[in-house]
Amino acid sequence: MRNFIISIRGGRPLAGDVAVAGAKNAALPELAAVCLASEALELANVPQVEDIRVMVAALRALGAEGQGEDIVLDGPQGRRVRLAMPQLRTPLVSPEVARTTRASVLLLGPMLARCGEARVSMPGGCPIGERKIDFHLLGLERMGAEIRAEGEYLVARCRRLRGIDFTFPGKTVTGTENLLMAAALAEGTTVLRNCAREPEVADLAALLAGMGADIEADGEETWVVRGRAALHGARHRVIPDRIEAGTYLIAGCFAGNDVRVKGVMPAHLGSLLETLAAMGADIQVGAGEFHACGGRALRPAAVVTEPYPGFPTDLQAQLTTLLTQAEGVSRVRETIFNDRFRHVNELKRLGADIEVRGDEALVRGGARLHGAVLRTTDLRASAALVLGGLAASGETRIENAYQLFRGYEDMPGKLQALGAEIAIEEE
Ligand code: EPZ
Repeated sequence: MRNFIISIRGGRPLAGDVAVAGAKNAALPELAAVCLASEALELANVPQVEDIRVMVAALRALGAEGQGEDIVLDGPQGRRVRLAMPQLRTPLVSPEVARTTRASVLLLGPMLARCGEARVSMPGGCPIGERKIDFHLLGLERMGAEIRAEGEYLVARCRRLRGIDFTFPGKTVTGTENLLMAAALAEGTTVLRNCAREPEVADLAALLAGMGADIEADGEETWVVRGRAALHGARHRVIPDRIEAGTYLIAGCFAGNDVRVKGVMPAHLGSLLETLAAMGADIQVGAGEFHACGGRALRPAAVVTEPYPGFPTDLQAQLTTLLTQAEGVSRVRETIFNDRFRHVNELKRLGADIEVRGDEALVRGGARLHGAVLRTTDLRASAALVLGGLAASGETRIENAYQLFRGYEDMPGKLQALGAEIAIEEE
């Protein structure tokens, strides 16, 4: 894996438009849905990020074929991916894929549903704490799958999945998505309760319906799926990436001189908007866009990450960076993952005053940040460190920065267009 160093000369005001790409965490399950039909899926607005490239490569290894300009990640049509799975050539997801992105677990349900077999290397992905998949496996076993570990692989088999009435023991985004896809081809009706409510789940359900699945929501946390014998191809546009949008909105709140974040769905960021408004940030919400200006004194905040519609864990690190610029002491409690404060030590190298006690970080704001050499560990922490570099005076260098490209489409280029002094070089 090529690696990069990002260098930033901070303190520059940011101004202008930044367009948000399609949601990585919607496109990943929607690509996995290619396994469910023999006809082509055409996804528009797919973000050009590493995790997507890895998922597309995994699908091709499973037998997915493109027609013509099948995988057009940089094409004039924007990011369009067109893939079909006439038959599943081999039900094996390689360790290389699984080590790169945890989203490879999303292939388990569709592969079982399509061909009754799946061999998936144990998922890897971000080192942000224990990333269990027991809820996924519990649901699939209840649907009739036999799943066992064979070395580093999970091996799953079933004759045909059957519908169940299943309540998730806890909120899981990819667990909900895995079982929705499995249920689409299962025999009989599946009722899934205590489902994750993230917008990416509803976007996947919309794609499945477009493929002919009989799927409907029953309230906010329950889905009812009547299994079909087969699904057909479909065309779908991926929803905007709310985490990318939130990241640029936060940047605008401390460095903005009218940053306009465009192509967003404000309703997907209610909790962040409430938090920033309570801090006194200068934000205008328009139709499909945010305007943010810095320069205001920001009040501290008390934030707890929660499943949607609560404050998203994927914006916790980025908000922590903003809180170092607020006037007063803020509290950030991370309840979703048990090791998602790895950005804190790096922010402290910039001069931030943060103390982590268990699942809570105490952020003493008002720190004047100064440049430093940092090393990032995971996708959203890398975004938080870039924001820190923008806020710091002098030069900041961020090593191991390939992480950023796993989930952000050309962040250095988008920030340069806003006036940031930022460059990338290969490590
Ligand atoms: C999805 O991960 C996202 N990834 C994550 O985004 C996001 O942080 C997370 O949801 C929470 O919103 C994708 O959608 C590809 P979970 P996922 O299953 O599905 C526990 C990013 O930066 N749990 O909702 O893997 C689990 O340990 C990434 O884009 C179980 O105990 O997360 C965690 O504590 C990072 N058993 C919590 O639930 C299970 O079977 C939430 O996990 C599944 C999960």
